[in-house]
Amino acid sequence: MNIGNQCCLFWGIFLHISVCLGEDYDLDDKTGLGRSFDGIGGLSGGGATSRLLVNYAEPYRSQILDYLFRPQFGASLQILKVEIGGDAQTTDGTEPSHMHYEDDENYFRGYEWWLMREAKKRNPNITLIGLPWAFPGWVGNGGNWPYSFPDITASYVVSWILGAKQYHDLDIDYVGIWNERSFNSKYIKLLRYTLDKRGLERVKIIASDNLWEPITSVVFADKDLQDAVEILGVHYPGTNTVPKALKTGKKLWSSEDYSTFNDNVGGGCWARILNQNYVNGKMTATISWNLVSSYYDDLPFGRDGLMTANEPWSGNYVVESPIWITAHTTQFTEPGWMYLQTVGHFTHSGSYVALTDERGNLTIITETMTHDHSVCIRPPLLPYNVTAQNVTFHLKGTFASISELQVWHSKFDFKSNKTVLFQNLRPVKVIEGSFSIELDVDEVYTFTTVRNGHRGNYPDPPPSAPFPKSYKDDFDVSGNPYFSEAPNFADQTGVFEYFTNLTDPGPHNSTLRQVVTQRPVTWVADADQTISVIGDYKWHDLMVSCDIYMEAVHTGGVFVAVRVDKGGGVIRSTRGIFFWVYADGTYKVTNDLRGMTVLAEGLSGTRARVWYTLTLTVKGNYASADLNGYPLWKNAVLWEPRHGWVAIGTSSFELAQFDNFAIEALA
Ligand SMILES: *[C@@H]1O[C@H](CO)[C@@H](O)[C@H](O)[C@H]1NC(C)=O
Ligand SMILES: *[C@@H]1O[C@H](CO)[C@@H](O)[C@H](O)[C@H]1NC(C)=O
Ligand SMILES: *[C@@H]1O[C@H](CO)[C@@H](O)[C@H](O)[C@H]1NC(C)=O
Ligand SMILES: *[C@@H]1O[C@H](CO)[C@@H](O)[C@H](O)[C@H]1NC(C)=O
Ligand SMILES: *[C@@H]1O[C@H](CO)[C@@H](O)[C@H](O)[C@H]1NC(C)=O
Ligand SMILES: *[C@@H]1O[C@H](CO)[C@@H](O)[C@H](O)[C@H]1NC(C)=O
Ligand SMILES: *[C@@H]1O[C@H](CO)[C@@H](O)[C@H](O)[C@H]1NC(C)=O
Repeated sequence: MNIGNQCCLFWGIFLHISVCLGEDYDLDDKTGLGRSFDGIGGLSGGGATSRLLVNYAEPYRSQILDYLFRPQFGASLQILKVEIGGDAQTTDGTEPSHMHYEDDENYFRGYEWWLMREAKKRNPNITLIGLPWAFPGWVGNGGNWPYSFPDITASYVVSWILGAKQYHDLDIDYVGIWNERSFNSKYIKLLRYTLDKRGLERVKIIASDNLWEPITSVVFADKDLQDAVEILGVHYPGTNTVPKALKTGKKLWSSEDYSTFNDNVGGGCWARILNQNYVNGKMTATISWNLVSSYYDDLPFGRDGLMTANEPWSGNYVVESPIWITAHTTQFTEPGWMYLQTVGHFTHSGSYVALTDERGNLTIITETMTHDHSVCIRPPLLPYNVTAQNVTFHLKGTFASISELQVWHSKFDFKSNKTVLFQNLRPVKVIEGSFSIELDVDEVYTFTTVRNGHRGNYPDPPPSAPFPKSYKDDFDVSGNPYFSEAPNFADQTGVFEYFTNLTDPGPHNSTLRQVVTQRPVTWVADADQTISVIGDYKWHDLMVSCDIYMEAVHTGGVFVAVRVDKGGGVIRSTRGIFFWVYADGTYKVTNDLRGMTVLAEGLSGTRARVWYTLTLTVKGNYASADLNGYPLWKNAVLWEPRHGWVAIGTSSFELAQFDNFAIEALA
């Protein structure tokens, strides 16, 4: 690295393209400004990506939140987008709806309310967005479609926004349509109308959280829709837009992007798209799926968050490189700053953007990511070559009088372990409006007049540790539990919530209850059974016991399971060793959730509305089970899967309760 200007001044007199210092780039506001910058954000949800975060002990939980949201500390995020829970599987789990049933309203379920409050506490200016992936079954009136009764869907979504204000004093700024699924023009207009009618004119609509088309053409052709939609939000645009989108005059956002393993290649991906989403696509906001990897690694898209915090049992978390790449922009800009028109690509690849606050502040961010060190999960990245290069910036217009810029530097080093992230270097002198820099490959620089950048730091968290081999939960939470879900359970179909039976004086008055009683309007193919997983995916030999209570009188059925091998969108086809009892007095042992492969079956004498204790033991190729401490079946022989999570669940969308859950992992 070499920051200097001497050579350029000398040669600049004689040669426009300086011989020794490479290429020249003007940064100028005289010709007018570019688009208004709307921020960089993270997405919690879509689905259940923050599930394990809430169960971290202090001070670690607050530290993680500081790395994400605290201004001038870490990522200093400017946008938080959350899922409006719809009781259905939305990638890494289900998130609870605020209205499981038509006559039900509860604005304290799940963790997104809490997360939004924690973000606001740290940054009162943070932009909040809500977007549904799925809807409770009643919204679709039993059909798997949210637009059959668009007025019901609109008032359901608006109630979430009103509840955010009423119960948490949260002002939601934007709301979306239906994540990565069809939109419906009539519904969008009705949503706008309903928002206005409820005094929510300030809440703007993003459409349609999918591809550029068809939303762009439909908005282009429909004046009323143009008035209803504020933002064209697309997913994984590969930094490009389409001409018609520019012609709509709408703000363009990459409203979901990244989704890449958060190692240094992930950091490179993030650096490249944060700059180039504007340079190539004129997108003025970029939102990372996901905010923080707080879900089990073996669920789909493990570690695709800006940082990793999925060990509440140990307290370990990892501040990954995307956090510091985000800081390069967020710590030196605010939403409302303007991009300059003079942004672009460097001659030898890489890109630069520059932003100003119109008070004369200037922030320049450069990136020179190599192809192979900045590939994102999608779309494919066409080949290109980037090389080390000398660049000279010429500050003109308002910026001509700047004499010094603060310098922040990151460099990914894939050969040795000399990666540096968000390092504060000596300020660069700007002489007669110019400064030069030698850019190596895989680097990010910020040059800025903003002086209060800060690399936040906490002492190392506790070391990483596996899930405890001996684990118990009696679900006894006195008073109002802070969260509706029990620690470490990751619901994959259905919703499992703390339940207090006020009329029961006995030992089962505090339980975990599966509460979804109708198939939701789904986002993926949820199972026909409900299931929540927990524990260590590597576990193979273990004993699980749980008290269970079927509420569905004739049709009830519940299970405990081990070696459960899949979660997420493929939950229907998950396998494992499932021990079921039914309200009709029978039991079954199956090798899969669907119950296609039966290993054993018989009579159990079980019925609804009676508590039973199920115990399942699996060792090597043999499984056996007890009912209320008496052997029910023995030595069922099994081969696959060899390992997986522990799970509980029900045989259909039905009410059932669980209590005194215990795991003893034998190996
Ligand atoms: C919030 O925005 C205002 C206006 O731009 C700014 O003065 C203030 O510093 C911001 N607060 C934080 C915490 O960023
Ligand atoms: C940049 O903005 C800050 C306020 O955030 C202001 O104090 C400072 O003078 C500005 N710098 C320049 C170069 O205008
Ligand atoms: C990159 O450089 C290599 C080696 O010089 C060359 O073979 C290749 O065609 C270049 N690729 C592009 C996209 O320019
Ligand atoms: C940048 O310029 C310096 C001289 O100031 C020169 O030594 C160096 O080789 C140049 N780097 C590149 C990549 O051209
Ligand atoms: C870099 O560090 C990681 C973990 O600390 C290690 O696994 C890897 O082998 C190291 N690579 C080199 C090239 O030293
Ligand atoms: C609550 O407890 C009472 C008394 O034990 C029992 O009759 C009732 O079924 C329980 N309700 C639920 C939903 O478990
Ligand atoms: C719940 O049951 C426990 C005994 O297991 C009892 O001490 C407690 O008072 C009961 N709570 C209620 C609300 O009835």
